[in-house]
Amino acid sequence: MSNCKIPKHVAIIMDGNGRWAKRKGLPRSAGHVQGGKVVEQILEDARDLGIRYLTVYAFSTENWSRPQDEVKALMKLLREYMRTSIKKCMKNNVRTRVIGDRTKLDKDIIEAIEKLEDATKENTGVQFTIAINYGARDEIRRAVEAIAGEVAAKELAASEVTEEVINDHLDTRELPDPDLLIRTCGEQRISNFLLWQCAYTEFYYTDKAWPDFDKAELQKALDAYADRDRRYGKV
Ligand code: FPP
Repeated sequence: MSNCKIPKHVAIIMDGNGRWAKRKGLPRSAGHVQGGKVVEQILEDARDLGIRYLTVYAFSTENWSRPQDEVKALMKLLREYMRTSIKKCMKNNVRTRVIGDRTKLDKDIIEAIEKLEDATKENTGVQFTIAINYGARDEIRRAVEAIAGEVAAKELAASEVTEEVINDHLDTRELPDPDLLIRTCGEQRISNFLLWQCAYTEFYYTDKAWPDFDKAELQKALDAYADRDRRYGKV
């Protein structure tokens, strides 16, 4: 019975890397490096706790306006992650997808993403999604553009644009909506993350910075989720 209270899909806004680093007298990039390590650990913890889908917000469309050396450090980290995680994903049966507008990323990162997605596409364990150059408004805009193109080409009538059609044009079309959204480090905003998909999602906030997030914290979020009444026709 308790299984039905475990969220199938958990999404995370990993906030506080910079503040964590500052508290330790380290450069912001050191916070991101530690944050990357926590991502890897949480992926294993998610599996142990029975979570089927895990989605993390790694780089937003707004993050380009950060100082160039920080953007560079984040891209380096993501590039390395794409290249080095294939082995671990295969070992742990993890399927990795990337959402967001990847066309704006460096060519070698796009290739590394494609390679990782392709290598892991048959894996049936945790379905891991990384949002890179992702913004929900941008995602919806791209979906509308694609649908408008289909309507203009008379492949679809305007009256046939249902919620399902919109859903099928989002980056997340292969994923169920998140049941639980976690945001770390005290802020309580959604920050342009999965706006369409979070229509019925439960939110959980913690003061812990992302580099300090661990399995016990994840368990706390799951406990809070299990305590809440599930409405809107869901369990
Ligand atoms: C927010 O902290 C965090 C980010 C903008 C980047 C998140 C990236 C990672 C955790 C590492 C890479 C991920 C993977 C998948 C390997 P912040 O810098 O806004 O912190 P602050 O609010 O304290 O300044």
